[in-house]
Amino acid sequence: LYDVRALSEEVRALAKERDAVILAHNYQVPEIQDVADYVGDSLGLSRQAAAADASVIAFCGVHFMAETASVLSPEKTVLIPDLDAGCSLADSITPEQLADWQAKHPGAVTVMYVNTTAEVKAITDYCVTSANAVNVVAHILEEHGADTEILFGPDMFLGAYVEKTLGLNERGGFHIWDGECHVHAGIRPSDITKIRGEHPDADFLIHPECGCVTSVMEYVASGDVASEGVHMLSTGGMLKYAEEHPDREAIVATETGMLYPMQQAAPEARLIPANPRAECVYMKMITLPKLRDSLRDLRYEVKVPEAVAERARVPIERMVAIS
Ligand code: 13P
Ligand code: SF4
Repeated sequence: LYDVRALSEEVRALAKERDAVILAHNYQVPEIQDVADYVGDSLGLSRQAAAADASVIAFCGVHFMAETASVLSPEKTVLIPDLDAGCSLADSITPEQLADWQAKHPGAVTVMYVNTTAEVKAITDYCVTSANAVNVVAHILEEHGADTEILFGPDMFLGAYVEKTLGLNERGGFHIWDGECHVHAGIRPSDITKIRGEHPDADFLIHPECGCVTSVMEYVASGDVASEGVHMLSTGGMLKYAEEHPDREAIVATETGMLYPMQQAAPEARLIPANPRAECVYMKMITLPKLRDSLRDLRYEVKVPEAVAERARVPIERMVAIS
């Protein structure tokens, strides 16, 4: 439909002209990853953006990620090539819903995944990513007391993973919001059973948002699957795994876009998607023509108002300080 090479060159020239840095999430289509300055996970990219000395950030990812970049780089112009690139998980909790939940549990500490809007972050105590959620919650229990009540959200599978890993099930007081990412929730225990049968020796790389996360933990607990081969990882962690294990066979349970940067990092690795239909339509809304238009016309700007950004920065900085 379009000449990828010519368009990529146009994008690079416009980025130079606009003094822009192009960031791409690991789930972006290959041609966007290829034209980007940095490819990575959601928080890593925002931190990269804050450190970069460019005046414009073209964020090829979804809306909450561009918001986080704006929160961490208030002086920069943050662009997203398509304003409709949202996130079903971030949409699963509004600031009003969170405020109601908090009102029912006065004194509880609120812990929210980075996949939330800036307005939700602004009334959150600590943010977490999939890479550090267990450590951050463990730190809160140490700091605030082992019986601290916690509101954790919005992802119920990440919440269940944290609860099980830290043995909080019996303790009570660890409340989990019932949100989910429709893509990861769709990676079911039955997918894992099927794929394990086909690749009995493969390692398992699992994003903790997956609908299969608790059943895999149960396989490990029962001795049915060797724990050394199972890794709960953020997208950044999966990439690192590929770099460190370039000749392995691994089942990858996350959005299928992830296989591209992993395969680039480890061309010999045998990577198998746990569910080949696990595609995020929002991530795939970003295309080269839209990125070109975005840089050419400086649209669509994502700007978090300073009053919100100032408060949203607090839980992010607390998390960064812990991890
Ligand atoms: P990461 O923070 O692991 O990149 O994940 C973001 C995301 O949207 C997962 O679906
Ligand atoms: Fe949101 Fe899920 Fe898409 Fe990630 S994969 S951006 S959590 S909808």
